[in-house]
Amino acid sequence: MTHPKHAAADHDVLDLIRKRWSPRAFDATRPVSRAEIWRLFEAARWAPSSRNEQPWRFVVADRNHSPEAHEALVGALGPFNQTWASAAPVLILAAVQFTVEETGETNRLAYYDAGQAVAFLTLQAQSQGLGIRQMEGFDHAAARRVCRIPDAFEPVVVIAAGYLGSPETLTVEKHRAAEVTPRRRRPIADFVFDGTWDTTMSSESN
Ligand SMILES: Cc1cc2nc3c(=O)[nH]c(=O)nc-3n(C[C@H](O)[C@H](O)[C@H](O)COP(=O)(O)O)c2cc1C
Repeated sequence: MTHPKHAAADHDVLDLIRKRWSPRAFDATRPVSRAEIWRLFEAARWAPSSRNEQPWRFVVADRNHSPEAHEALVGALGPFNQTWASAAPVLILAAVQFTVEETGETNRLAYYDAGQAVAFLTLQAQSQGLGIRQMEGFDHAAARRVCRIPDAFEPVVVIAAGYLGSPETLTVEKHRAAEVTPRRRRPIADFVFDGTWDTTMSSESN
């Protein structure tokens, strides 16, 4: 039987993409080795970026390695995210440098580039059998304080990472249900246009 979270893709795509989804249930008892964590950042490292600025930075709070840092970052999460993300063995704060290093001008592509780095990291995690869920629901000032982020950088997301756990461990019923609810997406014709914006991409125009 296919997993309810695997994408019902209309076209052939990489299995890594089809099978990736964002879990909330993590196995709190199974740490992620440092070697496995390094591999995630190696993937992020090779993401493309505007002017090759590589504006992304990451702070790793690995419960197995630095339990105080993990606890502090859990404390910066929104209450809704805390309920499930505290079990994730690894939390990663992603931050960006929003000015170009050489000129000091605003780098309006910094967030875009950081998103690509996190996407690379996410697919790498999937290939390692690790689950990833990103969170925008956190207190930026608190995260800045506990992770000691310098002023020139902006926190973007906190990433929960770890091996998958049982949905039964989740305390919020809505979260338990979401672990097995099929993932939904807009059809391609809603967001891809053929030649100009006036014509949607349709299989009839093949
Ligand atoms: C930038 C970003 C912020 C997100 N913030 C949260 C969050 O605060 N809490 C949460 O439970 N999920 C969060 N998510 C997860 C999304 O809800 C999830 O990726 C989306 O519903 C699609 O599901 P899928 O990743 O399983 O395909 C976030 C995802 C992204 C990319």
